[in-house]
Amino acid sequence: MVEYLTLNRPEVRNAFNQHVIAELTSWAWNVRERAARGEVRVVVIGGAGKMFCAGADVTWMSKTVQYTEAENLRDAAAMSAMFAAIDTLPVPVIGRVQGAALGGGAGLAAVCDVVAAAEDALFGFTEVKLGILPAVISPFALAKIGRSAARQLFLTGARFSAARAREIGLVHVVVPATELDDAVADYVQEFLTAAPEAVAAAKALIPNVWARPFSEAAPITAAAIAQRRVSHEGQEGLRAFLEKRPPRWSAGVLDTKDKK
Ligand code: COA
Repeated sequence: MVEYLTLNRPEVRNAFNQHVIAELTSWAWNVRERAARGEVRVVVIGGAGKMFCAGADVTWMSKTVQYTEAENLRDAAAMSAMFAAIDTLPVPVIGRVQGAALGGGAGLAAVCDVVAAAEDALFGFTEVKLGILPAVISPFALAKIGRSAARQLFLTGARFSAARAREIGLVHVVVPATELDDAVADYVQEFLTAAPEAVAAAKALIPNVWARPFSEAAPITAAAIAQRRVSHEGQEGLRAFLEKRPPRWSAGVLDTKDKK
């Protein structure tokens, strides 16, 4: 029901190389299949040890100088496909950030739906400090933080606090490190009270509507709600509310909580 993914290269602060990228991509495709069978409802992504993720593996990237241009392009495309595979998972993805989320690590936070961070965690789009740039993660990061913060943070490469990350929309909840697991558990519970197909439809609707003028978005939104109202889940949810009982998908949890 709840899928926990832990990046597990703490000796390099969970930096990812081509092997990790391949593993994460096939994991995401596998989650997609299991979600379609109703076996996964929520994903939690975290990092082992002191840090969430230090981004792309600098040792690996430094070796790519020996690659041909075609090999470098193939590698970068694979990284882009990994972020896209996670970004478009049809289930909610929660990021659990302790320590630091830098470079591609901040990109990984950007493809999560909800990010809970420890109050002493550091974030940064640090690539320009290394003479490179936050290219592959930019579509995902921009969608979260917008152009203004991107111009400040992509161009300085400066590290910033969890509080600032929340201010720009990269993070949603900031708590003391000792309360991080509770914050994640709260969100897991919250998602489990939401109808899985409705959640998938809502998640898919956001990028679809965001990229369009209203005249194009309006018929898409009307079709989406019309379809959900008559769906099995829609009917069950509306009936359950009127009958004052939990809907069947919520495993006995009544949705009465208001989120801050
Ligand atoms: N790629 C490869 N190795 C990395 C790495 C990365 N992105 N980030 C950290 N490491 C390695 C370090 O080289 C070090 O290896 P060593 O033990 O062989 O010396 C080990 O992880 C621990 O790093 P260290 O800096 O000693 O740990 P720390 O806990 O004091 O600080 C970070 C951790 C993540 C804050 C710091 O390592 C850092 O700033 N890393 C660069 C992150 C970055 O800019 N990423 C963007 C890449 S595009």
